[in-house]
Amino acid sequence: MAESKQPDRMEKVVSLCKRRGFVFPSSEIYGGINGFWDYGPLGAELKRNVKELWWSEMTRLRDDVAGLEATIIMHPQIWKASGHVDTFSDPMIDCKTCKGRFRADQTGEIPCPQRPSKMVTECAGEKTQPRPFNLMFKTHCGPVESEDNVCYLRPETAQAIFAQFKNVLETSRQKVPFGIAQVGKAFRNEVTPRNFTFRSREFEQMELEYFIKPDEAVEAISGSVAEATGEGHPGEPQPSWGWQLWHKYWVEERLRFYEGIGLPRTSLEEYWQKPEELAHYARATVDILFKFPFGTQELEGIAARSDFDLSQHERHAGKPMGVFDDDLRAAWTRLPKETQDALWKRYHDARHKYLIKSGVDAESAAATARNDADNLAKGKYIPHVIEPSAGVDRLILALITHAFSEVTETDDKGKSETRVILRFHPRVAPIKVAVLPLLKNKPELVAKARGVFELLRGQVNTYYDDSGSIGRRYARQDEAGTPFCVTVDFETLGEKPELLDTVTIRHRDDARQERLPITGLAAWLLERVR
Ligand code: GAP
Repeated sequence: MAESKQPDRMEKVVSLCKRRGFVFPSSEIYGGINGFWDYGPLGAELKRNVKELWWSEMTRLRDDVAGLEATIIMHPQIWKASGHVDTFSDPMIDCKTCKGRFRADQTGEIPCPQRPSKMVTECAGEKTQPRPFNLMFKTHCGPVESEDNVCYLRPETAQAIFAQFKNVLETSRQKVPFGIAQVGKAFRNEVTPRNFTFRSREFEQMELEYFIKPDEAVEAISGSVAEATGEGHPGEPQPSWGWQLWHKYWVEERLRFYEGIGLPRTSLEEYWQKPEELAHYARATVDILFKFPFGTQELEGIAARSDFDLSQHERHAGKPMGVFDDDLRAAWTRLPKETQDALWKRYHDARHKYLIKSGVDAESAAATARNDADNLAKGKYIPHVIEPSAGVDRLILALITHAFSEVTETDDKGKSETRVILRFHPRVAPIKVAVLPLLKNKPELVAKARGVFELLRGQVNTYYDDSGSIGRRYARQDEAGTPFCVTVDFETLGEKPELLDTVTIRHRDDARQERLPITGLAAWLLERVR
């Protein structure tokens, strides 16, 4: 089998997605709606698998993360506190000639109206000056459309986590360090949606807010903050970790997750934002980039966001967001006076800087920062946060483009055929196994195959297919990315007595076949698809 990589890979991926039911343009019968996409039967399964795997790894398999499922529309003050009302905008320009509207930082190329996966050169007409365009979708809550009842579709899932921080803390019996995870829809009125599902107006995020102690508290408890040594994963979390090690830990955990679902490190890149690119409250941000056919682009951002978010909600809602830490309180009393003073001052200065940057007047900022530092000495602080924030749709696109491969086969008569194989990792594959009777017109084969299908369908997503030649059926499953096909043949029925109740398993990636007893089939599959 000769494997080829095509320059127009993205075009082929978009066409396959439509043809096989992974992704359809939303509202297609009305001509579509730019920036909105629907997931078809295979896409829905793939997406569900990805979200389940993320949820399982980030919450169920960890002791220190709890889940949340919040509403999409929340109190509008949330978006004032988070900064989205004032600053969540892209610079937009209008073209006076073609009346097009573009992002000022993305001029030159726009998605082709006929083929959204292709970029075309934009009109050279005269442009207006850039002006900010807020990306939040606005609506009204209740029957009256007034400024008083404006509300927003959430542009990220993260803010609900901050707003519910105290409720989750109190009900989950967690203690800092711990995280809150959420998967759900987010909406951004992107000026120029582009690159298929990559930049959509409605999409899903998988976000974790991992709350940690401020470094001053770690130092008070552990004597010092551990330094990151060497490359790679820093290992099991330790009480002496400050924000830098926690940040590194989450970057490595996320890379490990991607590897575990079939995106090797070679397909990914880490981009450490430069100091001038960081938001004023962020201490470090790493973007995990994926090598998409249209360029190397962001899949996930992992930000060390200090105590900015909870502090903002404390100020705007007037509700305390701090936690009491018994270990800190006990440790503080044992510290030498000089250490207490040094930690007090460092914490005070950081809080003061935040308050001044957030527009608090000088007098109140001085008083609040002093109070916050006094509270630290009593064991109280506002947790800092590390935020791994991933896009579901971008990950789906990464998985499909990475899995996409074409093989050209030549038959006995010298006729060549090129067909697609989606080499999904079995953990994400939409269908895990297809059950195929060798022939459709032999009732004993069909009955036996239906029996095998019924045996497996409750355990893993199983597909039954008896139409067309066995070769065609294998090819159909290869194109859907199904890692295993089970064939029920005459040997299964006992043609060779020693093979009674055994089936053939065909492996998608190398067409290898092996024989297994039906009784061991479910366990064999579960071992490979989980
Ligand atoms: N809470 C942080 C946050 O929302 P972000 O970098 O704006 O950070 C996180 O978004 C992730 O959400 C991105 O890395 C990307 O995977 C996904 N994402 C953001 N905007 C998107 C869009 N318009 N379409 C699809 N995915 C998007």
